[in-house]
Amino acid sequence: MTTRYRVEYALKTHRRDQLIEWIKGLLAVPFVLHSQPTVTYQATGLQTAAADTYQRYAEIMRDVENLIIDHSKNILGNMICHFGDSRLGLTIYPPAVQHHERNSPGKSKLKLLVPSVGTFFTKLHIEDAFKYQDNRRFISRRRFVAPSFNDIRLILNSAQLLGLVRSSEVELVTFDGDVTLYDDGACLTADSPVIPRILRLLEQGRKVGIVTAAGYEDAPKYYGRLQGLLDAVHDSTTLTPTQKQGIIVMGGESNFLFRFDQDSDARLVYVPRDQWLLEDMRAWAEDDIKELLDLAESALRACAANLDLPAAILRKDRAVGVYPVNGAKISREQLEETVLVVQNTVERSTVGSRLPFCAFNGGNDVFVDIGDKSWGVRVCQQYFGGIDPSKTLHIGDQFLSAGANDFKARLASTTAWIASPSETVDLLDELETSVNPS
Ligand code: IMP
Ligand code: MG
Repeated sequence: MTTRYRVEYALKTHRRDQLIEWIKGLLAVPFVLHSQPTVTYQATGLQTAAADTYQRYAEIMRDVENLIIDHSKNILGNMICHFGDSRLGLTIYPPAVQHHERNSPGKSKLKLLVPSVGTFFTKLHIEDAFKYQDNRRFISRRRFVAPSFNDIRLILNSAQLLGLVRSSEVELVTFDGDVTLYDDGACLTADSPVIPRILRLLEQGRKVGIVTAAGYEDAPKYYGRLQGLLDAVHDSTTLTPTQKQGIIVMGGESNFLFRFDQDSDARLVYVPRDQWLLEDMRAWAEDDIKELLDLAESALRACAANLDLPAAILRKDRAVGVYPVNGAKISREQLEETVLVVQNTVERSTVGSRLPFCAFNGGNDVFVDIGDKSWGVRVCQQYFGGIDPSKTLHIGDQFLSAGANDFKARLASTTAWIASPSETVDLLDELETSVNPS
């Protein structure tokens, strides 16, 4: 392996979200300058210091917000709003921006400072989001712990929700499954607090898509994973039949679509591909799909042998994976190595340039799926009559780990990055209060 490749691999495994890290760095300066580590807790000076810090943080957040506005104008002005290639593409655009408003062609100041930044679908209300999160997390009152990655991640989520509510509206919410709706590998049981929140979305006439990597061709498998939710929709006496049709399941990233069915035991029916494939997806040739999966399978097998993984290979119609046997645990390093090996192998093949695919670390397994969640989310948008990316919110947990499969949703919608099912619940409540402030 050449040095270049080794560096590339190291970068991929240890990559960071540059936008979040950059904002964290900006806040670190006032934290260092204003924090009062030597002042005792009783001192009256403490409150004044916290107010100063709050003020400084808020000003920085306003500056970041303005840089993003400038960035979006610039991108639109230069007509490079193609569905992106940027690793961290958060994505496009505040409406009604005129060409003559652009400044330096081709590059925004934000792009210079954070080269991996993508484009944005809505305005991000970062200053207000900071104030909201500071009220909950008391970030500015901390004297020993600087604003963290999670502080900024949650501020950006709030900023996105405000952007959706103030400059647009939420017509479609798509959810990842594992870690977002239920714990990794678990199921959505009747007692899950996320269920009444999803029912509330449906009651409000919004659409819901479960966009999961879990790829099965038969409805009972999804019923097994989502039973609590599907039964609740089925049993609801407040949801109208039309509202009940507002929930769909997109499995295998973008491969299998199911719609709600009040009369079937599994509460779902399979929707044949010819009824929902996007135009571009129709060009995905069966021969190419087989060739790509054959290649991925051989890379997975070689990797499993090389790393002596306690694992077996599972080949499916639209996916191939490696999973542990006999209750074994595969280490994070082995999982990430496997993802990167197979990703690299397929990326460098000719079939890999013809077909989209997604190789990702599923926590204790590695899967390679045909397509990815950007396609999955777009299918949901089209299925519900062509919902705009600026009116779609995808909620997921995988935005950074090797092959992070929710990351691709940023190409098709606004996103919120959660770290647990309880954060999803908080986020849905935050959305509700943003829509209906008391
Ligand atoms: P997600 O978090 O909802 O996207 O679910 C990802 C998990 O689904 C993976 O970690 C796998 O354990 C599981 N899974 C089952 N079948 C498939 C498949 O065909 N492709 C990808 N993941 C699968
Ligand atoms: Mg997940």
